[in-house]
Amino acid sequence: METREQWSNRAGFLFAAIGSAIGLGNIWRYPYVAYENGGGAFLIPYFIALLTAGIPILLLEYSLGQRYRGSAPQVFRKISKKWEWLGWWQSFIAFVVVSFYMVILGWSLVYTYYSIGTQWGQDTEAFFFENFLGLSGGFWEIEGLQWKVLLPVCLVWLITYVVMQKGVQKGIERVSRILMPILILMMVVITIRAVTLPGAAEGLNVLLTPDFSSLMDPGVWVAAYGQVFFSLSIGFAIMLTYASYLPEKSDLSNSGLIAAFANSGFEFLAALGVFGALGFLAASQGVDVNSVVDAGVGLAFVVFPQIINQFPGFNSFFGVLFFGSLLFAGFTSTISILEPVIASVREKFNLSRWVAVNWICGLAFLLSLLYTTHGGLRYLDTVDHFINQYGVALGGLVEVVFIAWFARKLKEMQTHINDISDVQIGNWWNLCLMVITPVMVIVMTGFSLFEEWVHPYEDYPLSGLTVIGWGSVVITFLAGLVFQRLSWKQIPAPKRKKA
Ligand code: ALA
Repeated sequence: METREQWSNRAGFLFAAIGSAIGLGNIWRYPYVAYENGGGAFLIPYFIALLTAGIPILLLEYSLGQRYRGSAPQVFRKISKKWEWLGWWQSFIAFVVVSFYMVILGWSLVYTYYSIGTQWGQDTEAFFFENFLGLSGGFWEIEGLQWKVLLPVCLVWLITYVVMQKGVQKGIERVSRILMPILILMMVVITIRAVTLPGAAEGLNVLLTPDFSSLMDPGVWVAAYGQVFFSLSIGFAIMLTYASYLPEKSDLSNSGLIAAFANSGFEFLAALGVFGALGFLAASQGVDVNSVVDAGVGLAFVVFPQIINQFPGFNSFFGVLFFGSLLFAGFTSTISILEPVIASVREKFNLSRWVAVNWICGLAFLLSLLYTTHGGLRYLDTVDHFINQYGVALGGLVEVVFIAWFARKLKEMQTHINDISDVQIGNWWNLCLMVITPVMVIVMTGFSLFEEWVHPYEDYPLSGLTVIGWGSVVITFLAGLVFQRLSWKQIPAPKRKKA
């Protein structure tokens, strides 16, 4: 009988969990989300979202994975046979996320190389969209594969494949232990250099000046909850799977708090660095900071190359640091997004890691090809928006409602956490999961749906939003239902090694 894989110790688990949380979402998403949603005042909804939903769900997922020792479908099935589909739905959401996440890693890899001698030239926008992505003219103009994107994506897939084959301890844990300290060091260097650039203070002013009126805007609250879900890697089976590799006696609450605050700390650090650099760019162009801020991919791949062009001395080095940190942060997250999918199919079909990794990496790679076409950026953008807004958030919502209201397991999980953890969690935890989180996520989803109706996302054609956007959410859900119906290959429950 195979013994269940396990982290080598608590530090190994923490490195992997923090590596999962700190990702692309921290380096470029957080800074512009904070900027767009009230600047300094965004910290208020952000902390409320972190304390009322982020940390409570994180602890719930840790306790479910650690207590029931399984991938998401197996955990939910052990609680109630009828709910296995929820674990599959979350796993399929992770599968879709990894398919586009890898493509952004591919871009980051190439841009690390392009940084040497600032190979993107002066017109960084034209370089990114026309030269590098070769973006087509319209949504449905797929126009074949763009080899400049395809090659780096193949390379990052190959490296990821090797790490996943090596398994939990020798693959995921080892990579996280090596990359996380390097990443944090790189980010500290970037931030110190960025905030000491001429004009940086103005950038920080723009980021930190609070606009308290924004707190009345429901969209700001939606953004805060969305950011916390994605950034903490909750709602898509990741933390549940990682916690299933913990030994029987493992601290959960303290580890959860450390992971959550490390993630937020990194987010703030990145925001200071990014806005310091934006202030410098604005000053060197003699324009207002607001006019140089861009959202989404444009911030990292168009605006940052401009900053690097203007950089006073060692600009190639700064470029390599920035895109390298994007690459490292994204890499430790991408392996965490793949693992729940691999674990789910391994357990259901009684497959070896070798076979499961071949299948999952192979199929996810094929899906990634869609985003390496000339029309790829629009598909990536659409899937990212819909899967985050309606996949990750709803996956988390259904999980919380199921555990709190249907299975009524909160008390049991609270006792379990308190029995084995250093920090005791009080009844605030149950209250957050029973009432606050569900209410906030339902309101947030209702508001997003309304927005979707009034302003179709990015003004993409309705056919595109329906097929690619809603399609990806519906397919992950339906696939969940189908997989629940497939029969389990009878496997004896895996033994846990002694701690
Ligand atoms: N938590 C990961 C990120 O922030 C997925 O990118």
